[in-house]
Amino acid sequence: MIYLDSAATSLRRPEEVIRAVCEAMRVMGNPGRGAYEASLQAARTVYQARREVGRLFGMKDPSRVVFTANVTEALNLTIGSLFGAGSHVITTCMEHNSVLRPLYRQEKRGASLTILPCDEKGRLKYEALEQAVRPETAGVICTHASNLTGNLTDIRRIGRFCREHGLRFVVDAAQTAGIFPIDMEEDGIDVLCFTGHKGLLGPQGTGGLCVREGLELEGLCVGGSGVQSYLKEQPSRMPERLEAGTANVHGIAGLLAAVRWLERTGISVIRERETKLAQQFYLGIRSAEGVTVYGDVEDTLPENHAPVIALNIEGAASDEVCDELAQEYGIAVRGGAHCAPLMHEALGTAKQGAVRFSFSFFNTEEEIEHAIRAVREIAEAVLHS
Ligand code: ALA
Repeated sequence: MIYLDSAATSLRRPEEVIRAVCEAMRVMGNPGRGAYEASLQAARTVYQARREVGRLFGMKDPSRVVFTANVTEALNLTIGSLFGAGSHVITTCMEHNSVLRPLYRQEKRGASLTILPCDEKGRLKYEALEQAVRPETAGVICTHASNLTGNLTDIRRIGRFCREHGLRFVVDAAQTAGIFPIDMEEDGIDVLCFTGHKGLLGPQGTGGLCVREGLELEGLCVGGSGVQSYLKEQPSRMPERLEAGTANVHGIAGLLAAVRWLERTGISVIRERETKLAQQFYLGIRSAEGVTVYGDVEDTLPENHAPVIALNIEGAASDEVCDELAQEYGIAVRGGAHCAPLMHEALGTAKQGAVRFSFSFFNTEEEIEHAIRAVREIAEAVLHS
C-alpha cells in the first residue's frame, strides 16, 4: 500500500517509537503512585515527555504541558474553560469539527460566535478580524493549517492582534505540530492544543495542551491525582489540575521517543521533504484535464503550505475516486468531508467532498509518481466515460 493519508494519522513511524511503547508496557508502573522503580520510571518518562514536547513549542515550564487522549479532548477542555456563557469567540471557516462542535455547544450554553470567512482559495480573510471584535469578545481560536486544503494560518499575525486587543488566543496545531515551528511566546499563543499521532509521529491516544503561565483552566475530569488525596477538589497545581486518572504512560513513552527522533532528524528537514513531495505531486497533476485542486497551493508550496493537497476529478464523487485509488492502485487517501464542513462549503465542495492526499517524511518520490499516474488515468477514464 502507498500511504498518502498522514493528515489523518502517521501510519509510518520510526521503529524506536514502537519499541518505546512495547518497552513501557513491559516495565512501567503507574506514575506518581509509588516510590518503587516501576512507578518512578513511569513518572520520569512522563515528566521528560512534558519537558521535551514543551520545548518544541517554546514552553519553559514542563508542568504547564498537559496530556490528554487527543487534540479533541484538549480543545474541548480549553473551549469549555475559556468561552463560557456570555462570552463571544471568534473562529474561522477553516476549522475542524473538533473546534466547531465544542464551540456550537458553548453557543447553546449562552456564548456567541463569529466565524471569519475565507476566499475561493480557502485563504482566511484576516481583515474581517478587526470588525468581529466586540466588548464581550473573550478570544480567538483557529487552526494552524486547514486539514483539507493545507493552507496555513498566519498565527503570529493573529497572536499579535489578540495581544493588542486583550484577547485569549488558542491554536489548534493538529496538522502542524512536528512539521512547522511554533513558539507560544513569539506567536502570542495562550493555549496550544496538539495531537501526538500526526506530525509528531507518536502513538494514537496521545495529545495535549500547553497553557501559558498565569492562565488557569478547568479540567474536563476530576479524580485521582496521586497527590493531595484528602482534598475534596482537584489539586489546583499544574499539571494535576487538568489531568485526572492514570495517564497513557505507554503512549507518552512512544511520544517521547518520537519527539527525540524529530529533534535528531530536524523539523525543518522533515518539513522540507514533506512539502517537496507535496509539490512534486501538485506539479504532476495540476495540468491534468478534469482535475481541480483546492486551496492556495501554487503560491505557497513548498515553503508555506502544509503537506496536503485536495482535489476532485470532474464531477466524480470523492469517495468513489478514493475507492478506485485504493482498489486499483493500492493508494490510501481520504475522501468525503474530512470533518471540515465550513471549509467544504466555502470551496463549494460540500456535496462532492474532495480527495485528499497528504504526505509524510517516509513517502518516496516513486510513490508520488505512482499517485500522479493514478490520478491522471482516473481523470482520463472519467472524462471519456
Ligand atoms: N482530523 C483527521 C483528518 O483530517 C482525522 O483526517
